[in-house]
Amino acid sequence: MKKLWGGRFSGSTEKTVEDFTESVSFDSRLWKYDIEGSIAHVTMLGRQRIISKKDAALIIRGLKEIRLEIESGKFKFSQALEDVHMNIESALIRKIGQVGGKVHTARSRNDQVALDIRLYLRDEISDVIQLIKQLRKVFVTLAEKNIDTVMPGYTHLQRAQPVLLSHHLLAYYEMLGRDLERFGDCLMRVNVLPLGSAALAGTTLPIDRHYVAKLLKFPAVSENSIDTVSDRDFVAEFIAAASILMVHLSRLSEEFILWNSEEFKFIELPDAFTTGSSIMPQKKNPDVLELTRGKTGRVYGNLVSILTIMKALPLAYNRDMQEDKEPLFDTVDTVTSCLSVLIKMLPLVRFNRKVMEKATAAGFLTATDLAEYLVRKGVAFRDAHSITGRVVKYCIDNNKTLNDMDLKELNEFSGLIREDIFHYMSVEMSVNGKKSHGGTSREKVLPRIKKVKSGK
Ligand code: ARG
Repeated sequence: MKKLWGGRFSGSTEKTVEDFTESVSFDSRLWKYDIEGSIAHVTMLGRQRIISKKDAALIIRGLKEIRLEIESGKFKFSQALEDVHMNIESALIRKIGQVGGKVHTARSRNDQVALDIRLYLRDEISDVIQLIKQLRKVFVTLAEKNIDTVMPGYTHLQRAQPVLLSHHLLAYYEMLGRDLERFGDCLMRVNVLPLGSAALAGTTLPIDRHYVAKLLKFPAVSENSIDTVSDRDFVAEFIAAASILMVHLSRLSEEFILWNSEEFKFIELPDAFTTGSSIMPQKKNPDVLELTRGKTGRVYGNLVSILTIMKALPLAYNRDMQEDKEPLFDTVDTVTSCLSVLIKMLPLVRFNRKVMEKATAAGFLTATDLAEYLVRKGVAFRDAHSITGRVVKYCIDNNKTLNDMDLKELNEFSGLIREDIFHYMSVEMSVNGKKSHGGTSREKVLPRIKKVKSGK
């Protein structure tokens, strides 16, 4: 097939090279943005009289027809035409004749592809942001529904102190809030018009980049043509933000997998979101969570890919950069599918309040409360810690819990302890005493729920 760039070549391209260099098999997903960008570009070319208004109108009509053909599935992308840009431009020329070739005036594929990716990613980031907002809402609803449930909080996966389940769930709300900020911040840098940088140097033709920016709703125009066609920072940034989001989703998945196990029994996953085993009839597996945890790996892999592709590349455009798309697309697909499935599944998770509460009663979860009781009596924290440690050891040796101790026994360890200690060492008081800002008391968690619900 005759190439649009075929002028200086005498022979045709080797088939294996065509197969090797093509990108249309994956970048065809950018078609909508490629057409949108070309329409804006041509509108500007006409307005600037770089091409006639009549030609501009003809090209735009042709592009719109191609858009309809692709939408209806009639359009055939050809590998021999390399990429989405060449496919659409060739179709245009086939459709309206040589005048179609004017679409590429004052433009190169180097700024064109940068534009397409930015337009695409801008849309996808907005979707990801919406999904994160929905998932945050799910956590708020769950926190509100379970406001009275107490569970063991863990450090080192060892029972540490009693906390409200709501407080634990809202931890994810906060994590996702930082993800939102990161994607929002990334969006600001994606939202810059690259078009008009041409191959790398700009153009001698009197283009109006600011007008194109207005048409395509870009709040900013890039400042340096060399930087613009070399830059894939925004792809790396997006995948980095996605990687941190996946850190959060994988931690959530891991916790819920544990909580769903026979050993914990803190939650029960909805049947519709679990799968059976082909050999063990009793199994109900948390595959959605396991896959979310697993898919985290490919997103990190994509981050390493884009960073490695870009590392040490000389300015400006290099063909290496065509390799940016698959990691980017895969990241978009992965985070959107993980978020979507969690948004559906989490509201249906059943929390076993009784089991969680029982787990807070065993062990020595209120030991720190005993130490803090002593601190309030004037004991230095280190001494209070050591006294409490000895009490715990005594309990273990004598097969008792803290609450099995009577005052006389406790006074062997410190004469400062009074009857009210049993009040302070209760799970209820332990939780509701944590009134420091950001602490787990109902008194602190409830207003937080109220505040985030009001959207402030
Ligand atoms: N398919 C190419 C890419 O995705 C488009 C840019 C090609 N530019 C070039 N000078 N060969 O990066």
